[in-house]
Amino acid sequence: MRGRFIVLDGVEGAGKSTQMPRIADWIRKRHGEPVTTREPGGTPLAEQIRALTLADQDEPLPPMAELLMMFAARSVHLENLVAPALDRGQWVLCDRFVDSSYAYQGAGQGGRDEPIAWLEAQIVAARQPDLVFIFDLPVERVMERVRQRQAMDRFDRADTGFLQRVRDAYLRRAAADSSRYCVIDGAQPVDVVSRVIIEHLEARFA
Ligand code: TYD
Repeated sequence: MRGRFIVLDGVEGAGKSTQMPRIADWIRKRHGEPVTTREPGGTPLAEQIRALTLADQDEPLPPMAELLMMFAARSVHLENLVAPALDRGQWVLCDRFVDSSYAYQGAGQGGRDEPIAWLEAQIVAARQPDLVFIFDLPVERVMERVRQRQAMDRFDRADTGFLQRVRDAYLRRAAADSSRYCVIDGAQPVDVVSRVIIEHLEARFA
């Protein structure tokens, strides 16, 4: 049987990384060893594209170039890691996916959705996630958590307006497709979040 493709996405600092190993444990116990991965990145080549995209450069990265790099990395990742794993019957758990492109390159940076939708149709096509958890947190809390971080990348130095647009885009996308999206309130205690997620997984993939 084909594996399932599960994505964790949403604003930074809402607890994705904490929940990732817990979800992987749940998958491992019931469906065997999952592939845990991330975007941009996930394969050596895609990680190189990630490094290029997120690094501070002396030269500006035009928004369309940034979008194309996200999708270049995504294409490599899907072809070389995600799709083969799903075909083998392995489950894939991925930190960020297409919704990040709509949220950051689209809503956040004021890019249009059309080129993103076109790239999604070419590159992702039918390989859509089975389930997307959107980790949500009010923008003031996101700012707090981002400030507490040690390392900041180019994307972390965002203003409130930017983060608000990013957050709203995630919530809009989740609301438009409740069969595939589940919004997680990242302000809850870590163990509560885990329980909510596991309950969701049990109900969905029983
Ligand atoms: P990551 O370091 O995983 O974010 P965090 O730990 O903050 O959740 O992701 C790197 C950044 O890449 C993040 O700020 C969001 C951004 N990104 C995009 O802008 N577009 C995309 O399509 C993806 C996948 C990520």
